[in-house]
Amino acid sequence: MAYQKKKFIEVLNKHKPDHIPFWFMRQAGRYLPEYMALRKEAGGFLDMAYNPGMACEITMQPIRRFGMDAAIIFSDILVIPHALGQSLEFVQGEGPKLDPLRSSADFSKLNFNSFEKTLTPVYEALSKVKTSLQQENHNGTALIGFCGAPWTVACYMVEGGGSKDFFNVRKLAYQDPQGFAGLMDLLVESTAQYLINQVNAGAEVLQIFDSWAGALDSQSFRRWVIQPTKQIIDLVRDTHPNVPIIGFPRCAGQNYLSYVQDTGVTAVSIDQALDTKWAARSLQPLVPVQGNLDPICLLAGGDALKLAVEKIIGDLTDGDFIFNLGHGIHKDTPIEHVEDLVRYIREFSYE
Ligand code: CP3
Repeated sequence: MAYQKKKFIEVLNKHKPDHIPFWFMRQAGRYLPEYMALRKEAGGFLDMAYNPGMACEITMQPIRRFGMDAAIIFSDILVIPHALGQSLEFVQGEGPKLDPLRSSADFSKLNFNSFEKTLTPVYEALSKVKTSLQQENHNGTALIGFCGAPWTVACYMVEGGGSKDFFNVRKLAYQDPQGFAGLMDLLVESTAQYLINQVNAGAEVLQIFDSWAGALDSQSFRRWVIQPTKQIIDLVRDTHPNVPIIGFPRCAGQNYLSYVQDTGVTAVSIDQALDTKWAARSLQPLVPVQGNLDPICLLAGGDALKLAVEKIIGDLTDGDFIFNLGHGIHKDTPIEHVEDLVRYIREFSYE
């Protein structure tokens, strides 16, 4: 088997590739008929995520169809609260439901008793994907492990699920910063361990999702986004000094700059609201940038899609760049639009 350089990892190391590496957040999931077929058999989302064979199969599905430069392990950011003993359910059509934790007394119920036992299937799934990528000749495809950042995971833990404004968690962070810091410290420690184990199991790159980073003012952003993210990155690098780590502080606006300067991320993923010219000017001199097509534009397709892709590629290919979306693929996205997108990205050549 010929050795093939992995474009995605090359760009993370600031080497210029011949073509633009790409992958898409939520590339495995409900817009794929083969995923829906498996889900029908399997029952719930968590049953699939904790079944290494199925999680591997689902991770491979988009790679077989589209040949992305990276596969992201099929799992969820909420396995961490689950592994720490918080109840977790995915109700179809409603998203995640957890028993809300609203105070230090509630946080003290969390523990490591079944932490590794709960997460072992994720590590097994990673090893299986590593093998499948080789066996199916996707030697240029890198394997991404991931986690939620402590702030975003805490949002779900305190609210007990999704929320429009994250009222309870923001109130708690202002009213009882010490108590909240206790939860954040626990999340830093557990998440770092989880990421280290993912690398041990075969993950070649890590991504930290901070989907609700945009809900915080700049001071709180330093304390609850930058600081814990830096702590996790430092802990992971103590064990794995060279593993590339991509940060995604979604909707952080101008705070993207301090995030890149102060967390130690290898690269940054940007949402669609961030101006690509600003990103090229302010972020790309520091780190490779990944992003940022609006998933709804992908869903809509047509001329708007072509123009949006041209704009992103035009603005970001002078620096180190990975094509991705600004957030996850929407479940109603037509497959043909994803095919169009892949063709547009592949048509661009640096030579
Ligand atoms: O990107 C990938 O393909 C890898 C798998 C992945 C999932 N979730 C699978 C999933 C990743 C990286 C995530 C991250 C995640 N999970 C985030 C951060 C990124 C983001 O979207 O902001 C968050 C906030 C979650 C929490 C979560 N999981 C929510 C809010 C939901 C319900 C909303 C929804 O899209 O259904 C989930 C469920 C979930 N996680 C699904 C998938 C494929 C849908 C499960 C299904 O119904 O089949």
